[in-house]
Amino acid sequence: MAIRKPRGTQDFLPEQIGNWHFIEDRMRKICKAYGFSEIRTPVFEDTKLFLRGIGETTDVVSKEMYTFSTSDDKEQSFTLRPENTASAVRAYLENKVYGKEALTKWYYMGSMFRHDKPQAGRYREFHQFGAEVLGSQSPVVDSEVICMVVQLLKDFGLQDLNVEVNSVGCPNCRPAYRQKLIEFFEPKKDQLCPTCQERLYKNPLRILDCKNETCKALSVGAPEIHEHLCEECHAHFEELKAFLHAAGIQYNLNPRLVRGLDYYTKTAFEVQYTPLGAQSAVAGGGRYDGLVEELDGPHTPAIGFAMGMERLLLALEKQGLLPEPIVESSVFVLALGEAAKVEAFKICQALRNEYITAEMDGQGKSMKAQLKYANKINAKYVIILGDDELANKEAIIRFMESSEQETVSLDTLVNRISSLVKG
Ligand code: HAM
Repeated sequence: MAIRKPRGTQDFLPEQIGNWHFIEDRMRKICKAYGFSEIRTPVFEDTKLFLRGIGETTDVVSKEMYTFSTSDDKEQSFTLRPENTASAVRAYLENKVYGKEALTKWYYMGSMFRHDKPQAGRYREFHQFGAEVLGSQSPVVDSEVICMVVQLLKDFGLQDLNVEVNSVGCPNCRPAYRQKLIEFFEPKKDQLCPTCQERLYKNPLRILDCKNETCKALSVGAPEIHEHLCEECHAHFEELKAFLHAAGIQYNLNPRLVRGLDYYTKTAFEVQYTPLGAQSAVAGGGRYDGLVEELDGPHTPAIGFAMGMERLLLALEKQGLLPEPIVESSVFVLALGEAAKVEAFKICQALRNEYITAEMDGQGKSMKAQLKYANKINAKYVIILGDDELANKEAIIRFMESSEQETVSLDTLVNRISSLVKG
């Protein structure tokens, strides 16, 4: 049987890459406007980073990680990154960035890996664009991050966005709330789905955003986090809402928005594009004030988000917002005969030295076949080199749009093409 790509992964062929460049360019542009610099971290990390960073009871860590070791060192366990916040914090600590700057603003793009059940919008290898701000506890930063996500999506032309915001509290107020939730769900334990039964004592907050209909019904009337926030979390949340309001961001408060990673404190948010259905979360993020310390660093409040790039592309495609492919003009050098082939090769190289796209046929195809190929690659100019032209040290330039032709000497050919292409 032919070897196929692993389930839940995708090939992106040249005709799709223009769309990736389109979104990546916009992402880089908005990061510049908000003062973020790019980082690149390894695709795999020490497994302990994710166990400690994301939390051992989360679905991502307990069920979805690609973990491996190599034959020469069975003791050392590595994991393909399921997300990039833990890696960003690791890089922040390992490079002692906290000692060099008071505020760090990073962004990244790249592959993430989660062994989940593949479906439309959910893959085992997917790409995230994300950003992290380390070093500020101000709700101004929370609002900036949310504004950046919303602005980016709106600038693409996306409508029907649902911005959901919540506060998940902090280690001061969450334990008491957690206890209240356990007390609330304990009498109904047997009716909860098997996953939520497991979650009850480990992470009862996750029951609140379980998609199972019975669990949803059972959680009606559950105590709400907003009534249990400590003074600091409450004030932070009120300020965040005021800043979002000032920025004109329309959002919905969702007290059940918990998110699947353990590091969140205070702000949690998600941006959904509802027409995507089950996998409508295009971006999600929140504050993680305890993560740097959890990974043995100094106390450093932080916030960030990540956007699913495939989901964004799906949303843009659904709304017809992807750009028409750009057809670059190019040159085809049509050689007839062996001697002409060598000259054609020299001309191609001279044009490529000028960064003009130039192609030729090396296989001795007929004139008709070469012209067909020139049309296929959308050549604007075809340079024709036959024995007669070679003998006269000339070439014919054929303007493909008008079918007009012009004879030029080989000495001036590259300059002539260069002025035609570059204007
Ligand atoms: P997350 O919510 O797990 O957060 O992922 C962020 C986004 O990645 C999701 O909203 C979704 O668009 C996309 N995504 C996640 N899983 C998949 C998948 N299997 N297939 C396709 N797309 C997917 C994080 O990863 C956090 N690190 C975000 C963050 C950064 N929080 C603070 N800083």
